[in-house]
Amino acid sequence: MHDNTPPAPSILLVGASRGLGHAMAGEFAHRGWTVLGTARSAGGTALHELAHQHPDRVLVETLDVTHADQIAALRQRLDRRRFDVLFVNAGITHAAPDATMAEVDPEAFSRVMLTNAFGPMRTIELLGELVTERGLIGIMSSGQGSVANNTLGGRDLYRGSKAALNMFMRSYAARHADSARALLLLAPGWIRTELGGPDAPFTLEQTIPDIVDCIVAKRARPGLEYLDRHGQTVPW
Ligand SMILES: NC(=O)c1ccc[n+]([C@@H]2O[C@H](COP(=O)([O-])OP(=O)(O)OC[C@H]3O[C@@H](n4cnc5c(N)ncnc54)[C@H](OP(=O)(O)O)[C@@H]3O)[C@@H](O)[C@H]2O)c1
Repeated sequence: MHDNTPPAPSILLVGASRGLGHAMAGEFAHRGWTVLGTARSAGGTALHELAHQHPDRVLVETLDVTHADQIAALRQRLDRRRFDVLFVNAGITHAAPDATMAEVDPEAFSRVMLTNAFGPMRTIELLGELVTERGLIGIMSSGQGSVANNTLGGRDLYRGSKAALNMFMRSYAARHADSARALLLLAPGWIRTELGGPDAPFTLEQTIPDIVDCIVAKRARPGLEYLDRHGQTVPW
């Protein structure tokens, strides 16, 4: 007797210890996907708790996207694995949102740029080949990364880091123009997490299903798109 059940789709979700990444891991697992989530720490996160609750569906690896050696080591450990989706969610904000470039501390500048632009793109460059030929490679961007929509200013460093991320992903897409893979920069909306803060208008429960729907639907469309969680195009 052959079991004709297709294998569960799989996602490698980078930066899933808490917030949006953890909630996405839970939603994908709930939909029957196999989730390999990453956290910076080796234990004690909400992702580890999720893996404990769903040992058949959720596994945890360790990764800090600002450490190239850790990305390379993870690439080696996963050498024989293939994923339908690679999604890099990791990101940070800047504690002084009103700071102009004259006021931003250079150390903070480096940390935000390394975490939000350099780290995620380096992760895509090194782990992208683990994605199936018709799979999806995505990154959590932000509506604040849109140059065209920036008419109000504010959060200059965070905006700049996400705009840089978008630019690097466009270069990646241009280099992989013949690929059948779908590429996604996702602007999830302003959501109540540690990063989003208590004033954000939306909860995780209100937004995560749309975020996951957007990723799943985009799998059918090769090439790069910058989308909000409802699947609407965000202007570059
Ligand atoms: N919430 C919003 O309103 C909003 C809006 C637009 C875009 N976004 C984007 O959505 C993503 C998730 O945000 P969130 O609201 O869920 O924030 P969050 O609750 O602060 O969670 C951030 C996540 O990123 C991980 N992370 C941070 N630095 C990392 C690094 N160097 N290597 C690996 N992982 C790292 C954190 O891991 P640790 O637990 O180890 O710190 C955590 O899992 C970010 O890219 C953010 O820019 C959020």
